Amino acid sequence: MCGIIAYSGNENAGDIIINGLQALEYRGYDSAGMTVFTKEKPLTIKTAGRVLQLKEKAVNIAEKSFCGIGHTRWATHGKPSETNAHPHTTELLSVVHNGIIENYSELREKLSKDGYSFTSETDTEVAARLIHHNFRETQNPVEAIIKSTAEFRGSYALCIIFNSVPDHVFAVRKDSPLILGKSKSGHFIASDISAFSDYADTFYRMADGEISEISKSDIKLYTDNGELKEIIWNKNTESDTQMNISSVFKNFMLKEINEEPDAVKRTFLSLTKDSLPCFSDIIPENLLKTVKRIHITACGTAYHAGLTGKYYIEKLSRIPCNVETAGEFRYSDPITDKNDIVIIISQSGETADSLAALRLMKERGIPVISIVNSVGSSIEAESDYTIRTSAGREVSVASTKAFSVQITALLLFACELAVKKNKITEDECRKISAQINKTYSYDIQEVISCSKSIRNAAEVLSESDEVFFIGRSYDSYLATEASLKLKEITYINSQAYPAAELKHGTISLIEQNTPVIAIATNTMFFDKMRSNIEEVRSRGAFIISVCPCDADIIKEVSDISITIPAAEKLVYPFTTAAAIQLLAYYTAEIMGRDIDKPRNLAKSVTVE
Ligand code: G6P
Repeated sequence: MCGIIAYSGNENAGDIIINGLQALEYRGYDSAGMTVFTKEKPLTIKTAGRVLQLKEKAVNIAEKSFCGIGHTRWATHGKPSETNAHPHTTELLSVVHNGIIENYSELREKLSKDGYSFTSETDTEVAARLIHHNFRETQNPVEAIIKSTAEFRGSYALCIIFNSVPDHVFAVRKDSPLILGKSKSGHFIASDISAFSDYADTFYRMADGEISEISKSDIKLYTDNGELKEIIWNKNTESDTQMNISSVFKNFMLKEINEEPDAVKRTFLSLTKDSLPCFSDIIPENLLKTVKRIHITACGTAYHAGLTGKYYIEKLSRIPCNVETAGEFRYSDPITDKNDIVIIISQSGETADSLAALRLMKERGIPVISIVNSVGSSIEAESDYTIRTSAGREVSVASTKAFSVQITALLLFACELAVKKNKITEDECRKISAQINKTYSYDIQEVISCSKSIRNAAEVLSESDEVFFIGRSYDSYLATEASLKLKEITYINSQAYPAAELKHGTISLIEQNTPVIAIATNTMFFDKMRSNIEEVRSRGAFIISVCPCDADIIKEVSDISITIPAAEKLVYPFTTAAAIQLLAYYTAEIMGRDIDKPRNLAKSVTVE
């Protein structure tokens, strides 16, 4: 969380930093700030608002600046305010930070005894004062950084400007990403390539402990004890055409839902050959033949994709699969064995808990397969094997197309595993591929295009304080994702339950007109779902069902039915996902919410 960009070069640093921060706003948008070197002295501008407000304030910078650092914040320590916004400055330096210095109160106390005072509530100001303290002693930026980071506990990506070293920016990282970039006009440091992909053609992902120094003409990398080391550059292939909403869509969320058919198709084609799953270039065959148990771990929407993956894996290959949120998994001392494998799912490839779970498994020697959407991410770099999804860049904080491609990859992986375990034949596999093909060629688009009933349901939800989602088997996983989506962007309180579970307590909350959204796509459970619907209906619930168009048994007991094209059950999660995402979307639109940047959230969660 929090986005950082630094630049030193021939272009106007202020403009480059503002553009970079706009691309990084998905990492947090509570407040923003920057420090730039003008001819005379460093100048710091901050706002309690977003990058757009910072841009308005920066218009007053009369002189061009050729070096600077910028920050867009997701508040951890201290409320969003101008005082708590970064950069944090002293008479000697200016600092931006992503991460959490966990021992900041200890350090703050120590520094207070040395006569330092503090104006903000942040851990970053403590880091700034400590680096200041060590720089005063050493007069050497790199030494001051090494001395200071030796005292930090926690995670950090720091960019620092020392006032006495104009036009240079120094950076260091541990557990929070920093990427170096090089263009003809200058050098960059940022949390993510997207911040400078308009300018830089090569990049380097800094490793934990490394220190970098950029200036107009040079870029240096140091080890954690200050020795110079070579930078191995990578080509930047990231296109940022995805950053434009285009005139067709009002915002990124709607654009990204509309991209689902193509995203699923691209992912399907990249992971198949002649309509059969093809993972031989990615995962050794023997690993799949010998695996006895699978653990899936992830956060948020990726976790819900993991639950759907469990259904696919267990249904098709009969290999037991345990799914847990990464924040719990990493601290649960998970029981692992030598024939286990771990699958980490992450859109960004940078989520702190998922990365920590990955590292724990690697320490134990358990093979790690990641399913990642962002090219060159930390999770991809550290996994043994990576299945890349091809959603393209996802900008909206609420994840949509990333979910669809994650379940595409998981379904194909489950097929591959099932074939290797002789649980299904190649012919059966081809049939599943044909279903996926129909889904991305027609069905998802049909859900997106025929959204009248979704809009009607959204009208009802927009008037409600509390909403319940129910479903059985994989539909209950989609119910959980539907509830998350609704909460994220509308702020309506909602809960998801396996349909049979509601009567064990929660049904007491159902009152006249309480919306209950019943996801019922699996013919096997139609009778049971109908009974569960009747139970809440007889207590006054307003029923919105999500079901196949031919599911009369469900439609008959629904006030509104959102229908999806009839298909085979393995692919219903794809069309259901589009329906529930649009339901949340239209509800938020009616309520006038800030859909792409909902309150309190960030897209990439790089703190625990
Ligand atoms: C945040 C985002 C969610 C996302 C989750 C996991 O909470 O707001 O949309 O699902 O992180 O992110 P990842 O990048 O690991 O998939």
